[in-house]
Amino acid sequence: MRRFKVAVVGATGVVGRELLGILAERDFPIAKLTLLASARSKGKPVEFKGEVLCVDEVSEDAIAGHDIAFFAAGASVSREFAKGAAQNGALVIDNSSAFRMDPEVPLVVPQVNPEDILKHKGIIANPNCTTTIMVMALKPIDDAAVVKRAVVSTYQAVSGAGLKAMEALLHESKAYLAGEAVQPEILPFASAPKHYQIAFNVIPQVDVFQDMMYTKEEWKTVHETAKIMGRTFGITATTVRVPVERSHSISLNLETERKLTREEALEILSKAPGIQVIDDPDEMLYPMPFSAGGTDLVQVGRVREDNSIPSGLNLWVVGDQLRKGAALNAVEIGEKALELGCLAR
Ligand SMILES: NC(=O)c1ccc[n+]([C@@H]2O[C@H](COP(=O)([O-])OP(=O)(O)OC[C@H]3O[C@@H](n4cnc5c(N)ncnc54)[C@H](OP(=O)(O)O)[C@@H]3O)[C@@H](O)[C@H]2O)c1
Repeated sequence: MRRFKVAVVGATGVVGRELLGILAERDFPIAKLTLLASARSKGKPVEFKGEVLCVDEVSEDAIAGHDIAFFAAGASVSREFAKGAAQNGALVIDNSSAFRMDPEVPLVVPQVNPEDILKHKGIIANPNCTTTIMVMALKPIDDAAVVKRAVVSTYQAVSGAGLKAMEALLHESKAYLAGEAVQPEILPFASAPKHYQIAFNVIPQVDVFQDMMYTKEEWKTVHETAKIMGRTFGITATTVRVPVERSHSISLNLETERKLTREEALEILSKAPGIQVIDDPDEMLYPMPFSAGGTDLVQVGRVREDNSIPSGLNLWVVGDQLRKGAALNAVEIGEKALELGCLAR
């Protein structure tokens, strides 16, 4: 079996670390693995399959010569290095927002639009974490009953904002419980003009405000979903950061052309790839960040007909955004590209 030269850019971040774990777990066919990050991490030792590898500083030369480059170092690093890496023959699988809406770049969730992988010109974008988790549940319902409108409300874990936000939740919680002053420095996002405490709080802002007072995260949900599903329909979103370490939860209210009963919806979802239905009100069973964390399946529960319209459904969707929402989806894109034999352009 052919093995490939793989680079991970952003190997020291939360997504990068998860990527390394998943590449090892799934025995991705690697001949050589190069770990890259900023100058701050140069020389840092990282273990991969029992071997200790040293992190290097990202540069065009450091990425050259690889077959696949996973990028997880933010949009500015992707904008600086991804096109060069692709021109040098690597298939770039990019976790950042840099190319997601570029018409030349496929935006892929392998369970939803795997055929788009064939259209790549060197770069494939991994969608926003909330969007990936949401479309996993949306697609089977859309195939069966055609979604006319989706109202999306998110409850997003701090790790969605990176390692520093994860650390902030722990530091702030310790300080708050010790009765000390909490000094928020990271959320809603690091470069914001002011910051709010996330410990024991909820912040109704994920990323910057844009058109019509919606945040960038809310618009990503709208535009990326349309690109992945290959059609537009009404979507409106409210994205919220909650004091959860890992796994995003989404309340999804759908209006469909054809009415689905709760039983029909449960049957459709239980057959959908990558989905685990957890829905037993009598036993108080439903998805939660603690049940989804560290797992590969997107969990769906609390399935109910919408009492307020003739054909609508309410779903509660929870997924580990570091895995299916980022690293796992990226590795699955790589595996599918290998299977389709379309690694190089
Ligand atoms: N967190 C999530 O749930 C999630 C989900 C989907 C997509 N994403 C996307 O994935 C990317 C990484 O996010 P993250 O959450 O893993 O962030 P993170 O924990 O803050 O890690 C950032 C990584 O990027 C590296 N980096 C930062 N600036 C760099 C530079 N100038 N040159 C080279 N490397 C640099 C860091 O290296 P150092 O350690 O050396 O600083 C680190 O390895 C982002 O684009 C994010 O939007 C994240």
